[in-house]
Amino acid sequence: MKAHDGMYIGGQWRPARGPDTIAVVNPADEQVIAHVPAGTADDVDDAVRAARGALPGWAATPPAERAARIAALRDVLVARADEIAETVTAELGSPLQLSQTVHAGVPVLVAGSYAELAASYSFEEKAGNSTVLLEPVGVVGAITPWNYPLHQVVAKVAPALAAGCTVVLKPAEDTPLTAQLFAEAVDEAGLPAGVFNLVTGLGPVAGQALAAHEDVDLVSFTGSTAIGRQIGATAGGAVKRVALELGGKSANVILPSADLAKAVKVGIANVMSNSGQTCSAWTRMLVHKDQYDEAVALARAAVAKYVPGERIGPLVSAKQQQRVRGYIERGVAEGARLVAGGPEAPRETGYYVSPTVFADVTPEMTIAQEEIFGPVVSLLKYEDEDDALRIANGTVYGLAGAVWAADEAEAAAFARRMDTGQVDINGGRFNPLAPFGGYKQSGVGRELGAHGLSEYLQTKSLQF
Ligand code: NAI
Ligand code: MG
Repeated sequence: MKAHDGMYIGGQWRPARGPDTIAVVNPADEQVIAHVPAGTADDVDDAVRAARGALPGWAATPPAERAARIAALRDVLVARADEIAETVTAELGSPLQLSQTVHAGVPVLVAGSYAELAASYSFEEKAGNSTVLLEPVGVVGAITPWNYPLHQVVAKVAPALAAGCTVVLKPAEDTPLTAQLFAEAVDEAGLPAGVFNLVTGLGPVAGQALAAHEDVDLVSFTGSTAIGRQIGATAGGAVKRVALELGGKSANVILPSADLAKAVKVGIANVMSNSGQTCSAWTRMLVHKDQYDEAVALARAAVAKYVPGERIGPLVSAKQQQRVRGYIERGVAEGARLVAGGPEAPRETGYYVSPTVFADVTPEMTIAQEEIFGPVVSLLKYEDEDDALRIANGTVYGLAGAVWAADEAEAAAFARRMDTGQVDINGGRFNPLAPFGGYKQSGVGRELGAHGLSEYLQTKSLQF
């Protein structure tokens, strides 16, 4: 795979300050496919300086012109979609079709939505005798994970650029090649030098330096709750803005009136997609006691279609594979019943995990409480609606969820009682304008749509 051996800073590829590199591994065959530089605090400092230098000019650029540059960026993402999909498949391991439709496709929708929002958003409001100006927060430090390597980047960079902010991105060490392609796209789209900068590197080194940098005004992080907590504390100590998109343990609530077969099938597909490496995945399926045995049989049949190496890819790394297999062993040890899959690796080579379904899972079990981040679904039994709600809301997380019922009003009434940031009603479709983010420990702040844009703005009131 093609890789740059430098950082994208101030509108050009520059040599890294230090000699260290990161090996990029294809998780399907465990081969090293490229090396990228492992940035240090010095690289981060160079990038923040470039972003700071570009800020006054970009913040003063009329929103319609910022919109035109974001639209140009979207067009480059469209033109290079095949290359993006192949790169994501090579470093993340997702099947090529998923890379094309989701990993390359969704960022086009999100970039497009911000091209439109930048042009249509009111960056000025009236409140009585005041005019309220909505101004860019400043220099943004974006730290992204590997699970959706391009989407996670675009969901931060596009609204930041629309708001008039400038950005330094530190992408995940497992998927830096997609981030380098994104930097190429920014360059091709003609964004002014320094508006977007890329530093590849390790989390505890480059990520830490970016989160702690005194000239960064806002840190936007997506990843594990443990690191999010740390970044939130660092940002709080420095009195800077922070947005955190963390883990989830979302419930798929199937009410007795629902189309059970459809709800189970879509629920299994939701978790198996991207090998379960989705923070909003509905990893807990809640079924009424009278329908439970039927749901278990339906789930077993549905999961059989996800053949490792065909419809479902490996996990991103050996570390994640180990982690997920550990959770499966823990589920067995705590008394859950395996109805499909298990801890054994389904293939000799590659970081694959067997698509796994657990029945007889009770709400307090580890596999019903902690984020597993792999192709593992737990089926839980409820007595009545209140019991279902208690179980659904009974974790520290609150990122997403689903409710199924015979009619939408019944499902929506239940969804209103859920402590979570997003709920899909009877399998609702993805909407790039819907705010995405967590209640409780799933995070702070929102991404996507107008709410995602407002994260990158601060207000100034003029009284007349
Ligand atoms: P992680 O939280 O360590 O990595 C996410 C990003 O944070 C990466 O860019 C990483 O380099 C950076 N980072 C790591 N340590 C840092 C530090 N001290 N300061 C600043 N940045 C730092 O997540 P990891 O280890 O890849 O995955 C572990 C678990 O996290 C997963 O099993 C899953 O449960 C959760 N996760 C959640 C995601 C989400 O979408 N909310 C995405 C990825 C992981
Ligand atoms: Mg890899």
